[in-house]
Amino acid sequence: MTNVTLSKLTKEFEGKADPSVDHIDLEIESGKLTALLGPSGCGKTTTMRMIAGLLRPTSGDIKFDGKSIVSIAPERRGAVMVFQNYLLFPYMTIRENVSFGLKMRGVSKTETRQRVGEMLDLVQLPGLEDRMPKQLSGGQQQRVALARALIVKPKVLLLDEPLSNLDAHLRDEMRELIRRLQGELKITTIFVTHDQEEAAVLSDKIALILRGSLQHFGTPEEYFERPGSVEIARFFGGVNFIPGTYDGSVIATSVGKFSAPRSSITSGEGVLTIRPEAVEISGEGGNSVQGRVVSHVYAGRYARFLIDVGNIRIEAVSDPKRVSQIADGEMVSLRFDPNEIWVLAQPTEGNGVDRGAPEGGNRSVASVPGDE
Ligand SMILES: Nc1ncnc2c1ncn2[C@@H]1O[C@H](COP(=O)(O)OP(=O)(O)OP(=O)(O)O)[C@@H](O)[C@H]1O
Ligand SMILES: [Mg+2]
Repeated sequence: MTNVTLSKLTKEFEGKADPSVDHIDLEIESGKLTALLGPSGCGKTTTMRMIAGLLRPTSGDIKFDGKSIVSIAPERRGAVMVFQNYLLFPYMTIRENVSFGLKMRGVSKTETRQRVGEMLDLVQLPGLEDRMPKQLSGGQQQRVALARALIVKPKVLLLDEPLSNLDAHLRDEMRELIRRLQGELKITTIFVTHDQEEAAVLSDKIALILRGSLQHFGTPEEYFERPGSVEIARFFGGVNFIPGTYDGSVIATSVGKFSAPRSSITSGEGVLTIRPEAVEISGEGGNSVQGRVVSHVYAGRYARFLIDVGNIRIEAVSDPKRVSQIADGEMVSLRFDPNEIWVLAQPTEGNGVDRGAPEGGNRSVASVPGDE
């Protein structure tokens, strides 16, 4: 059981104006699975390499159980890293690959044989000891890489996007395997991903990193239900944003006033946000507005509608059956349940609000001031 503490951890690379990792403070609890989440280039791998000892921080500190480890050699830290592109030794058998760390530590042949067998059972690959890596599928190779990391009983397991080379089905299986192994072995695990859903499915807590800086450290629910900023809400799939003025219980916008008891600000210039699944089409009563359906997509399990309310575009996800009941161009009533609304501060300039919604088609939405 090992706590990992990052204090003002910073890495600057020569020739690069901004730090790649910028004063990150993070307290990672012992025995938990923590995700480092952020877009490409935000500094995730750099952070992991510093924890593993493969890269020296420019400044700041890393502690395992309160003791600084930055001057300790990588192999003596007790942290092992599994890379995105598995990196098995191609000319060694699976047994030799998995037992590599034990050989380096001088463990006896008999014990090694036994532990390799146990590890391959654990990652559900029994009996494959004598195969070569190229005789295994990508998913199997990734399991071998996991076995090779776990066999040395690490204090800290660092997984750097280990699933990104796998297809969707294998990825689900591997997520379950990692979750189960982590739960059983209770190894402090840090998991890098750029996929917010993967982070939510796998981790106890998520550290969101943007441009080298830690934005927030919290549970998956916090990010989806109570994001701290428009930028964070966007990263977690938020697409509906309506600017307005908030008095602590009601937000007045260009398309109407909405009762909004939940907020991250007490009052002032705000932004109403509501998740597409929470927008009720044909919802009557308070907190509703009229809008014109612009387009829709039928996706089998759900339908997605784009609806213009004044100059604001709203996305609503509904029961797929609604597709046969609502025509494009039709006026509909939309209801925003007060308990589903979340009011955020209006983004200040340079806050990265121009980042846009995640890729995936026509997700462009209402502009927020400062969003140009
Ligand atoms: N050895 C290096 N020399 C110079 N710059 C580097 C070096 N390693 C990383 N960087 C820069 O530091 C920043 C962070 O890189 P890093 O690999 O940590 O990103 P990442 O979050 O892991 O991205 P991805 O999701 O694409 O793997 C990038 O701008 C990258 O170009
Ligand atoms: Mg990376």
